[in-house]
Amino acid sequence: MKNTYFLDSMRAQEKWRVEDSINLLPSENMTSPQVRALLSSDFVNRYTLPIEAEYAGEYMENSYRGTRITTDVERKCEQVCREVFRSRYACVQPLSGHIAAMITIVATTKRGDKVAAISDEFGGYDGYAQKYIPDILGLKAVQLPFDADAWNLDADKASQTIRKEKPRLVILGASLILFPYDMKPVAEACKAVGATLAYDGAHVLGLIAGGEFQKPLKEGAQILYGSTHKTFFGPQGGLIVTDSKELDGRIRKNLTWRVVDNVHWNRVASLGQALIEMKRFGPQYAKQVVKNSKKLGRELKERGFPIMFEELGFSRSHQLLMDRRELKAIYGLTINDFSVRLEKSNLIIDAVGRLGTAEITRLGLKEKDIPELADLYMEAAKGRNVRRQVKSMRGRFDMAYRLR
Ligand SMILES: Cc1ncc(COP(=O)(O)O)c(C=O)c1O
Repeated sequence: MKNTYFLDSMRAQEKWRVEDSINLLPSENMTSPQVRALLSSDFVNRYTLPIEAEYAGEYMENSYRGTRITTDVERKCEQVCREVFRSRYACVQPLSGHIAAMITIVATTKRGDKVAAISDEFGGYDGYAQKYIPDILGLKAVQLPFDADAWNLDADKASQTIRKEKPRLVILGASLILFPYDMKPVAEACKAVGATLAYDGAHVLGLIAGGEFQKPLKEGAQILYGSTHKTFFGPQGGLIVTDSKELDGRIRKNLTWRVVDNVHWNRVASLGQALIEMKRFGPQYAKQVVKNSKKLGRELKERGFPIMFEELGFSRSHQLLMDRRELKAIYGLTINDFSVRLEKSNLIIDAVGRLGTAEITRLGLKEKDIPELADLYMEAAKGRNVRRQVKSMRGRFDMAYRLR
């Protein structure tokens, strides 16, 4: 292998995915140059014991020296996280959304308990299926009833299921998430059976931070956690927020040496910067993401493309959902083959049938720009190669919503 293989790959990746493509993956976003600079700063080299170790019940001495600045960065990151999510407690140590989920589940359940979540059949997170996290932790997975026609939790039936099954933990949130949930009946049922209600905001965390979609902690969730790199435009990682001192204590107790050891302080510093950017731009950004997804849904639908839930306004999140049966009827392709076709034109989508507007919003696209994107999308959908036009459109946009 050439000594420069990875550096060459970096350049090729930057050219393709940053300069030449338009990204409609709902799981991804772009980080500012400052956020990226912090990721490759000296923090990447360092250790310190996380401050939560100090109040995990037993005092753990920080065995590392040279940690004055790192410790301060951790405290400041948690402070700005509490401000952005208007929560009393914040934990920025989880290395990813999945690890944030693991910490939350470990902290709120014990072996033999039930954990209820939306099934992966309806876009729920795969990690909550029996064979993944529940299996590792000795839990029984319970599925919350879902109304596929409204693409939403069936809140009343879900509350009945909770009363009957008495899970120790109920998790709302999903990977394919278009509309906010009616959380009240679920929160009441959780209270009645003594279950903890958590909200996995991996996908919609940036919308929640900006005051859009829904306010899980105000609507009855006791814990909100998620990834910091989907609609939240930070480095890859996770965070957990809560208003409960007791739950925060349990989360801290389950961090060091149970689910996480070294916390990756470059990520924490970088997340701190992204949180500052979110504090400044969150409301504008989150509103625009939702406006862009509604507009993209409408523009594609008007061009005859099968986007679902027109009668519900297509979406209230950053996501849209294609109708896979209609797609097959119109183009003769599965969603997977269709995504490969679009990739040839440098339009990047997933093979689930979701389209996402977080990254194009970060690029500065507004509603007025969406018809041009929809035209390119339709050309690519028909199998014409519009890579040159996509690159040219991409080149006209710079990053919006960042501190200069
Ligand atoms: C709903 C949901 N929860 C958790 C995760 C895991 O997050 P991460 O990829 O940050 O580990 C995902 C990932 O896509 C997700 O969609």
